[in-house]
Amino acid sequence: MYGQGDNKVKALDNVSFSIKQGEFVLIVGSSGSGKSTLLNMIGLLDSPTSGKIFIDGIDTTTLNDNKISSFRNNKLGFIFQFSNLLSDLSVLENVLLPRQIAGTDNTAEKDARDLLKTVGLENQMHKRANKISGGQAQRVAIARGLINKPSIVLADEPTGNLDSVTSETIVQLMKSMAKKLNQTFIIVTHDKEHFGDVDKVITIKDGKAFEGDQPSEMEIIA
Ligand SMILES: Nc1ncnc2c1ncn2[C@@H]1O[C@H](COP(=O)(O)OP(=O)(O)O)[C@@H](O)[C@H]1O
Ligand SMILES: [Mg+2]
Repeated sequence: MYGQGDNKVKALDNVSFSIKQGEFVLIVGSSGSGKSTLLNMIGLLDSPTSGKIFIDGIDTTTLNDNKISSFRNNKLGFIFQFSNLLSDLSVLENVLLPRQIAGTDNTAEKDARDLLKTVGLENQMHKRANKISGGQAQRVAIARGLINKPSIVLADEPTGNLDSVTSETIVQLMKSMAKKLNQTFIIVTHDKEHFGDVDKVITIKDGKAFEGDQPSEMEIIA
């Protein structure tokens, strides 16, 4: 629920589904249907007015701010429509950032290099982030979203700002990463056709999404 009094907006109502570990899931629906709101709730960037969200058996709506931060850092990876890279930093430094926020460790740089290799950017690592193309920037954002080894990766229209050829590459990359790393991917998208076969598609219409038989509960196993 957004706003107060007469300005209240019920962005989501009666949402219910469950997602199993390693599933590749799409959230689809028209513009304004509540997709981003839903993803932000799963990502603990926003909280529901009522209802529960279970992730790994924990009702995340009951967590305090400290627990929310550590949960977000340790379990969740985010990829957005705009790559939001820091332009003064190198590609490698951008990927390393979330890991440095989570705390220093010896294998961070190796992990970042490995991920950049997986996304095909091993030769661009030391370039400044503002010197690469949009498609490359989104690949950096994927590597950055995965650097903390999240069990759940959340992506809000990750191909929304790319041409269709580049989108196709990014989609295939996410699918192969999901398979390789056995991570749960939850992706909001307009381009369902691009994704081909996926494990689950959740359709939101007028803020409602329904899968299973327990209204107002989400269960996500990571
Ligand atoms: N911060 C906010 N304050 C008030 N209304 C909002 C806010 N964010 C989203 N909404 C409303 O909630 C509904 C769902 O928005 P959103 O989740 O962004 O949809 P989508 O991502 O599917 O386009 C829309 O009606 C939108 O206008
Ligand atoms: Mg949105």
